[in-house]
Amino acid sequence: MDSNSDHCVSILRPHSCCCLSVSFSSPQIAILDFGSQYSHLIARRVRELHIYCELYSCQVSPTELAEHELTAIILSGGPSSVYEEGAPHVHPDCWKLIQERNIPVLGICYGMQELAFVFGGKVEKGLKHEYGKAMVHRVEGCNSQLFQDMPTEFQMWMSHGDKLHKVPEGFKEVAATDNAEYVAIENLQTRMWGLQFHPEVTHSPLGKTVLENFCVKIAGAKQDWVMQDYAQEFIKDVKEKVGPDGHVLGAVSGGVDSTVAAVLMTRAIGDRFHAVLVDNGCLRKDEATTVLKRMREDCGVNLRCVDASDRFLKLLKGVTDPEKKRKIIGGTFIDVFQEEAKKIEEESGPCQFLLQGTLYPDVIESISYKGPSATIKTHHNVGGLPASMHLKLIEPLRELFKDEVRELGIALGIDEASVWRHPFPGPGLAIRILGEVTPERVKILQEADAIVIEELVKTGHYRKIGQAFVVLLPVKSVGVMGDGRTYENVASVRCVETTDYMTADFYHLPYEVMSTMSSRVINEVRGINRLCYDISSKPPATIEWE
Ligand code: XMP
Repeated sequence: MDSNSDHCVSILRPHSCCCLSVSFSSPQIAILDFGSQYSHLIARRVRELHIYCELYSCQVSPTELAEHELTAIILSGGPSSVYEEGAPHVHPDCWKLIQERNIPVLGICYGMQELAFVFGGKVEKGLKHEYGKAMVHRVEGCNSQLFQDMPTEFQMWMSHGDKLHKVPEGFKEVAATDNAEYVAIENLQTRMWGLQFHPEVTHSPLGKTVLENFCVKIAGAKQDWVMQDYAQEFIKDVKEKVGPDGHVLGAVSGGVDSTVAAVLMTRAIGDRFHAVLVDNGCLRKDEATTVLKRMREDCGVNLRCVDASDRFLKLLKGVTDPEKKRKIIGGTFIDVFQEEAKKIEEESGPCQFLLQGTLYPDVIESISYKGPSATIKTHHNVGGLPASMHLKLIEPLRELFKDEVRELGIALGIDEASVWRHPFPGPGLAIRILGEVTPERVKILQEADAIVIEELVKTGHYRKIGQAFVVLLPVKSVGVMGDGRTYENVASVRCVETTDYMTADFYHLPYEVMSTMSSRVINEVRGINRLCYDISSKPPATIEWE
């Protein structure tokens, strides 16, 4: 999963031991992750119910778990088989704690099999993987609170290999499918529930009701997770931690994450937060000016813009390899930022902290349980600030998902255009100009990109799209303009629908919108005489072309 935060400020942590994470409060619900691809969705759904929850590795220590006053625990699914060697299990002392504190537990898929493993049930190796929609029937005469206000039959999403063969001691079955006898079980005495299906995925239409029944009706969790409180808590906390004289540095890009983080910091410590925007010469049309105006004038952020365009573009001269472009931009960004930091310190005194827009999916990525064969996500970060800067991190968004950051942005009164801005990669237009990046090609792309975005906003498509942009190809084609023949660049429009940026489908843009875009780009942008529309999905294509 990729949160796709504003990548130009996603600087790798210098030394995470100094990380100053400002926490909202203790989670009411802990989700113990067994490595399922859906674990983060459980957290999302619970948060949508306005309940603050956090994800932990299934191997969380009993001491860490004991620190929180938990209202409930959810065990996620996972790819392992409970009986196989090395399969993950919850620490026996965590089970002790759960029973001593009488905390309700809901096991989902592997989580239910873990209940069976621990409490004397039996799990059978599935001969084939059951994957897809299934009709769940409630057991007649059984009124499980888990299915309160739900019909006797409902559709849920299954994705499992193994299945329950014998219910654990003290449990009884409360729902079945034609294919499996025990798809939901409960033990009212120990307050434990198990589900074979996945209520957290959107393919389970009543899944949210099941989760609400468990979290609110059964466990009694309070639905008090609101963004205004979050902002207030952060501001109070950061004031204390930074102290009356402390200074904080931060790189901003104008994207939603860095804008929200910067506005929060400004509300907490005013001008002692020093924001830096580096213009690398590969930003979108008028971007530096627009961000500067929005952040400084509308949000009161103490922001300075360093125009390093010439420096970046000189270094990019003649470079065509995409990875080399990324390295040059990443490395130069760090140099420029450090030089600026030095100037700020000379003017205002030492800075002890660095603001970073880490999001919860990045945190999940680092804490979630990864089996031996799990693939490690490729990070797109531009580069890392050297540890020699000795800055402590402040990460106000590390507990939030992207849509929660947007909600927080709206609660803080940030303008809609910033809140809904599509993500923009750190290397910017440099990886959208295939081949060599020259000032002329940057200009051509900026103009075309601005027209395409303007049309998407005007026609109401922008908000439905995950990311939209133009790519300038290293290809020329013949055209006619008036009486003359042209030989100019080809460009391609890329619009994708996505939520996690790990997979994406091309956006089905109506022909009329394409038509206006094409005639406007070809007529208004000197240097482009042909516009294409990219109809590839990810995978196998990627979102960016380089
Ligand atoms: P791909 O092209 O891998 O992109 O499908 C997924 C998301 O990551 C962004 N991206 C980058 N962001 N530096 C960044 O900061 C990069 O080098 C980079 N490459 C891709 C891309 O825009 C999309 O949102």
